[in-house]
Amino acid sequence: MIDRPLAVIVLAAGRGTRMRSAVPKVLHKVAGRSMICHVVGAAEALGADPVVVVVAPGMDDVAAAVRPHSVAIQHEQHGTADAVKAARDALSGFAGDVLILYGDCPLIQPETLARMRQERRDEAVTVLGIRVRGTSPYGRLILAEDGTLDRIVEALDATDAERRIDLCNSGVMLLNGSRLFALLDSIGNGNAKSEYYLTDIVAAARAAGSICRVVEAPAQEALGVNSRAELSVAEATLQTRLRRKAMENGVTLIDPKSVWFAFDTVIGQDVTIEPNVVFGPGVTIGDKVEIRAFSHIEKATVETGAIIGPYARLRPGASVGEGAHIGNFVEIKNARIDKGAKANHLSYIGDADVGAGANIGAGTITCNYDGFGKFRTRIGAGAFIGSDTTLVAPVKVGAGAFTAAGSTVTEDVPDDALAIARGRQAVKPGWAAEFRAKQRAAKNKE
Ligand code: UD1
Ligand code: MG
Repeated sequence: MIDRPLAVIVLAAGRGTRMRSAVPKVLHKVAGRSMICHVVGAAEALGADPVVVVVAPGMDDVAAAVRPHSVAIQHEQHGTADAVKAARDALSGFAGDVLILYGDCPLIQPETLARMRQERRDEAVTVLGIRVRGTSPYGRLILAEDGTLDRIVEALDATDAERRIDLCNSGVMLLNGSRLFALLDSIGNGNAKSEYYLTDIVAAARAAGSICRVVEAPAQEALGVNSRAELSVAEATLQTRLRRKAMENGVTLIDPKSVWFAFDTVIGQDVTIEPNVVFGPGVTIGDKVEIRAFSHIEKATVETGAIIGPYARLRPGASVGEGAHIGNFVEIKNARIDKGAKANHLSYIGDADVGAGANIGAGTITCNYDGFGKFRTRIGAGAFIGSDTTLVAPVKVGAGAFTAAGSTVTEDVPDDALAIARGRQAVKPGWAAEFRAKQRAAKNKE
């Protein structure tokens, strides 16, 4: 265990113009969570305090997204060293380690950062290095003969020989907080972009007689997102991770690449997920659940042994009890479906409580909304809702009660009663034959 306190500074002031978006780049989502929250989440996992996010003026949505952590404003974007300086006040008096992360690198893993801290020894700056072959825009890590880090040269400022080096700067740096800002003040902007480069802190620390070192990590974790294309690469990479994790935990994915998880999807053991299933955030699935093809689930809970789909939609607030069945083209929203209840075909169950063992017939609709308010439907345990019943909420169907098929139920139904609420059927013997004969005669006349 490392007992030195840790602060994290997340750089996120870049405009991200290549996203072509009205939304700040770091608020774009990967696996259902904004990139900035992925990064802040990694900082939290390390127990960092404080976490300071550097933003440009007007990025109020980013500030809101990272609360309760604070933001520091970088008024003009003069480079990564200048961005870190913006956090100076927020870190005044802090003397532990400072970790620098980028808000647009959502794939960085807390385990890697923890290892970086563990492997750190007496150096002033530890840089997370990645291996990238060929031409790349990354800064190159130039090692001294003793294997320590001598300096970082940005690709734009590098010589041809330096550009052939495959050890690159991921952007992640771990520094000694008591010296960070003094070193930053010594950095100038005499380079290709006339910017203050954070990477120059390595040469500055060396000049002051300190050692700097590299800890290596898989290049994948350092993927920076600058465009929608890169956003899709980040998504694909994270999905691969989430699918692998699910399978390691005992989930069968028949076609892993067609199942899309959210960053926080929780799935029990011996769950089978058929192809083409999408999880939004906030889903918890119990053991032995079957999720059949083409289902969409968000902010919902499914308990042990339930069967969902094919083609089911569980919307926010859906809670499906043990062994319950939710079948094809059934939508559940803000509703509790108790143990063993079934809604197998073509229904909308919204703002409702469905008791244990109740049977919801095909085509049942809860009319929960009158254009102004939402109203609740309560269906008792063991009730039998006939096909094509319309339940006009607020309304209650008692335990063990029946509703006749095709009923529009507007009044409460007592326990064990039958409600029939539909037009009475009239039968006219011979009417159809007479009708046909008349029509044919008229046609023959023409
Ligand atoms: C930086 C590194 C480079 C490294 C690469 C990894 C420097 C000088 N270069 O280059 O060595 O290989 O990242 O991806 O550090 N930002 C601000 N304010 C600024 C400038 C940047 O907040 O004034 C933020 C950006 O929003 C971004 C991060 O800092 O999150 C990195 O900035 P970026 O412009 O992408 O740096 P690179 O040129 O990619
Ligand atoms: Mg970049």
